[in-house]
Amino acid sequence: MSTILDGKRIVLGTCYYPEHWPEAMWREDLERMLKTGIEVVRIAEFAWNKVEPEEGVFTYEFFDRFLDLADEMGMKVIFCTPTATPPAWLTEKYPEALNADINGILYRHGARRHYNYNSEIYKKLSARITEKFAEHYAKRNCVIGWQIDNELNCEKDVFYSESDTKAFRVFLKEKYGTLDALNEAWGTVFWNQTYSDWEEIHVPRKTNSDSTNPHEVLDYTRFVSKSARNFAKMQSDIIRKYLKPGDFVTTNGLFSNLDNHKMRRESLDFITYDSYPNFAYCLDMYSNAPGDLRDRKWSRNLTEVRSVSPIFGIMEQQSGANGWNTRMAAPTPRPGQMTLWTLQSIAHGADYVSYFRWRTCTFGTEIYWHGILDYSGRDNRRLREVGDIHEKLQKIKDAAGAVYEASVGVIKDYDNIWDAQLDAWHQRVDSQSQKALFAAAQRSNTPMDYVYLEDDTDAEQLKKYKVLFYPHAVLMNEKRAEVLKSYVSAGGILVIGCRSGYKDMTGKCVMDKLPGLLRELTGTDIPEYSLIAPDAGEVTIDWEGIQMKAEVFTDLLEPEGENAQLQAVYTSDYYAGSGALICNTYGAGKAYYYGTSFNEESARIFLEKLGVVSPYKDVADVSPECEIAVRSKGNRKFLFILNYGKDDAEVTLHRDVTDLYTGQKISGVQKLCGYGTMVAEYS
Ligand code: GAL
Repeated sequence: MSTILDGKRIVLGTCYYPEHWPEAMWREDLERMLKTGIEVVRIAEFAWNKVEPEEGVFTYEFFDRFLDLADEMGMKVIFCTPTATPPAWLTEKYPEALNADINGILYRHGARRHYNYNSEIYKKLSARITEKFAEHYAKRNCVIGWQIDNELNCEKDVFYSESDTKAFRVFLKEKYGTLDALNEAWGTVFWNQTYSDWEEIHVPRKTNSDSTNPHEVLDYTRFVSKSARNFAKMQSDIIRKYLKPGDFVTTNGLFSNLDNHKMRRESLDFITYDSYPNFAYCLDMYSNAPGDLRDRKWSRNLTEVRSVSPIFGIMEQQSGANGWNTRMAAPTPRPGQMTLWTLQSIAHGADYVSYFRWRTCTFGTEIYWHGILDYSGRDNRRLREVGDIHEKLQKIKDAAGAVYEASVGVIKDYDNIWDAQLDAWHQRVDSQSQKALFAAAQRSNTPMDYVYLEDDTDAEQLKKYKVLFYPHAVLMNEKRAEVLKSYVSAGGILVIGCRSGYKDMTGKCVMDKLPGLLRELTGTDIPEYSLIAPDAGEVTIDWEGIQMKAEVFTDLLEPEGENAQLQAVYTSDYYAGSGALICNTYGAGKAYYYGTSFNEESARIFLEKLGVVSPYKDVADVSPECEIAVRSKGNRKFLFILNYGKDDAEVTLHRDVTDLYTGQKISGVQKLCGYGTMVAEYS
């Protein structure tokens, strides 16, 4: 069993760069870490040259000396493969390993992640360095697991090199078999794009209209995802040959154009995430919009992470100010914020939290991306806060292995996510609804999961949710429609938003009556639809006496079949009186079709009407700045209350709970200081 994620404790780690510091500093650094409660270091993700300083010459001594020390001192190590930063000797000799921009201009040495996943030589050299690392270092006692590369698809999530074009053709040949099938799938008869030779096909290139065939771009995104997954799998397969029993393989994410769920299943024991909630306070990104959730929005990212691995690790947790020399400038976390953000990760299912980074680098692009220690390395407030966090974690250790509870889910799938990236109509409705659903759930303290629908998803996986939203199921196929039907007929409640079912999986529009494959399930027919005109003003909806506002789009709905009931109508503009919401009884459950996008208010009304809002009301009432999360294992329930506000918050406990920080039984009104956290057990 590994040191981390063993279901017994929540463990702290940090990211350490032995190559950045004189060796004479290592021992003292490790000593100070261990004294503070840091038990694990992650190393070597950007250190290819330290082991292969020139092609084919391997020198292991540098990390051997570090691992000797770690072994001697009892420090555990997560070792990384170094493929995120190819050495200069490599890219100079083999420029085909480089990624390129859409014009084919190569990204040169000087930053990181400038390679592409499909270059044969890069794959070969990456496989070799992975093998050398794993063969030599995996057997070491102190090594407990492996990180593949670093942040696959970060920095750039599109690849336009010659190697990518070649691999894209292979991908398409496998998928379509013939050019006729490809031409049909991509609708190439439009604007005379028909291909008559595979060599005519390229990864998307610059066109004169900032738009490339959308069906091609959708396939291209699938191809990028597959390329990244293959690269991860190649490394994982190699590492696993040398892995000691109980050791793990992971990578740190999550990034776009990558099916993280498939990657997890194919290559990883669990996913780890890099959590930087301080982005919310970046001077160059700060949003002063009233009601902005700021750092609380990271709970949305953590919800994504949980959907990949219910119990996960944080490979990089914010521990200082942000900033590259060029951008992303943000202040130092205020006293208490490191604890708050650490507990935010844990509340959502992290049983390992590793701070980025131990010491702040004194050179390079990230001189302002502060770690726990500043440049001088002197003891400081943040180091003391880590020590305090460590003490807290000893007290809440029983929460390890407990799983986040939610009875509401939002269905997502990669095909729709990727289509929304390239389709401005789809994007508008989707980003509006995703933001609104998350905010409504977060502010009403209605824990929510993301549930990924894939072609092999079983209705059983959906049945644990009382209510599922599938905000805009634009692309749909029969298999997925059947899974949704099984979920509803077994008693589930499904809420589908506008624009659903109008595309097939190639992204082409269907010629059926809308919502296409979802017509029978939703008992809905959509004879007419429109984007909301800019001069339309507020488009209002009446749902049995409750007033709501339509957003972005209106599907005008008519009930179809004897179980379909019109529950809400539009009350303004030319569609006043047309259907806005249909509820169809289907087997033991109900499917709702809502003809527009959600805003926070309407999302909240759905949560209320469907009887799933604020499930912990009988346990605790909290001030608006506070998030409630519950992790449970067996009949033990761990209640996390997190105050994101600067000021004191009030928590009213409606039953006796045990405050795990103090071990005291408490109830009634409690004060939670600014950025304060509470972890309590109740039954
Ligand atoms: C992460 C990355 C780290 C470091 C950090 C701060 O994305 O994995 O290597 O760059 O951000 O920028």
